[in-house]
Amino acid sequence: MAVSLNNIIELKDISVTFKNDGNVVKAVKNVNLKIERGDIYGIIGYSGAGKSTLVRVINLLQAPTSGTVSVAEQRLQELKPQELRQARKRVGMIFQHFNLMKSRTVLGNVEYPLLSKKISKKERREKATNLLNLVGLAKYADEYPSRLSGGQKQRVAIARALANDPDVLISDEATSALDPKTTISILQLLKKLNVELGLTIVLITHEMQVIKSICHNVAVMEDGEIIERGRVAKVFTAPQQKLTNDFIETSTNVQAAIKRITAEIDLQLAANQRLVYLNFVGNTAKEGIISGLAQKYQIDINILFANIDQIDGENVGYMISIFSGQPELINGAIKSLISADVKVRILEVGGSKGDEAANGVDYSERN
Ligand SMILES: Nc1ncnc2c1ncn2[C@@H]1O[C@H](COP(=O)(O)OP(=O)(O)OP(=O)(O)O)[C@@H](O)[C@H]1O
Ligand SMILES: [Mg+2]
Repeated sequence: MAVSLNNIIELKDISVTFKNDGNVVKAVKNVNLKIERGDIYGIIGYSGAGKSTLVRVINLLQAPTSGTVSVAEQRLQELKPQELRQARKRVGMIFQHFNLMKSRTVLGNVEYPLLSKKISKKERREKATNLLNLVGLAKYADEYPSRLSGGQKQRVAIARALANDPDVLISDEATSALDPKTTISILQLLKKLNVELGLTIVLITHEMQVIKSICHNVAVMEDGEIIERGRVAKVFTAPQQKLTNDFIETSTNVQAAIKRITAEIDLQLAANQRLVYLNFVGNTAKEGIISGLAQKYQIDINILFANIDQIDGENVGYMISIFSGQPELINGAIKSLISADVKVRILEVGGSKGDEAANGVDYSERN
């Protein structure tokens, strides 16, 4: 198999099956994954989806049950132990629980991976100091990890992961233990390393917000498989899978709004009213469409929730509103929205006496 020069990582037909006391767990099932040099590639999925197992295959910390692994044009499974040790240095890793050594100073932690290198103490110190500068922690060099905040600890872990000048940095839930503000600062640091060092980053998370903020590409994992993948803007604006849609709606607060509104509105919706969820993509003035619609179809549109997200320069809008008017006119308005590429979903309301057939129906085409 020819290995593409553009792909720093190529996983082919990777499966990982664990067998414990007669229990068989297929953690990864026949996954193919190519990651381009210089990319920031997100892998998102719920707990147990197989994300960590899959990325541990990238440096053969986890041997696959079947399939082949190539990193930087090398087939890792064909390497001799000494060659594999070298190849592994091309891939740094950071984790949710920083895994710093308590008995070593910040500088000592960053120096640690360099101890096996044939360089002078002075060179080692210089290299570690430069790395601490890069992550903004130079003045903490002589502190011990216990004195640092979570975000600072993660910066030390990042500096340590960079000690061997890796081509790839794998971040396995590295921001999951951090508050939102610290999460943003760590993501910004990763972005900076990507741009300044050309570092390829593979970023595992269960938060779409994390993917949205720095990733270019994303793969969605469920039950050991990649169920959807592509450019973040594309996946965000036209999700094909229900799970992907769940992640998006959670990250945009749409799901919480739908829950709150459908609960609040219970029993209050009149027979001539529909609770409608709209999702639109693009920079056209959709508000104009909505108000034009109200006039043309003589219906009232009462907006209860609206949120606009910016992804790759495109506006993605989410809106929940009550349409009031004659059912045929509401249906006409909905059809007209769909033909303007707006995704429309009639939300079910507990106490609604509305037309059963119309409730919970997804009129939109997902493509
Ligand atoms: N060493 C192991 N032995 C047996 N089963 C394992 C082992 N490692 C992982 N598994 C199982 O494989 C599946 C995938 O686990 P994995 O840790 O890859 O998921 P994950 O997506 O990283 O989850 P999380 O978000 O919780 O970290 C789970 O069912 C897990 O219990
Ligand atoms: Mg994991």
